[in-house]
Amino acid sequence: MKRSTMLLAVCGAVVVSAATYYGVARRGLQPADATRGRQVFDARCWVCHETDNEGYRIGPGLQNYFQRSPHQQKNGSEHEHTDEFVREFIRNGSMNMPAQKDFISRQELADVMAYLKTL
Ligand code: HEC
Repeated sequence: MKRSTMLLAVCGAVVVSAATYYGVARRGLQPADATRGRQVFDARCWVCHETDNEGYRIGPGLQNYFQRSPHQQKNGSEHEHTDEFVREFIRNGSMNMPAQKDFISRQELADVMAYLKTL
């Protein structure tokens, strides 16, 4: 086999396996599970958030969070608690809450959202 052909074959293999990996990673997301979400919450969120009331610890208590009407954050911006908003908020944090995206996977985020909806 010529060297250039060989190189092409290797490149092709890398592209194919990367695509397969990406596909599997995407399809690998399981349905959100509140029980697993609770474990994520206890490990990563509990220090700052109560789950059985709406009062503040370091962050706001998250009971009935999804049922609450639009309200203002400390920085004055107003928002509704849509899935989209909450997902992005947890991922990116705010001036007052540390971003979580480097600590929890997409699966864990989906699970923790399912858990929050049970509170
Ligand atoms: C170090 C403390 C801390 C940790 C850890 C933390 N949070 Fe927060 N969180 C806060 C604070 C403070 C706020 C209020 C943010 C603001 O008003 O800017 C907040 C706000 C929130 C909100 C409400 C956003 C809104 O205004 O509607 C949600 C939902 C939330 N956090 C979920 C989580 C989840 C889920 C985790 C774990 C994956 C987590 N937080 C981890 C401190 C924390």
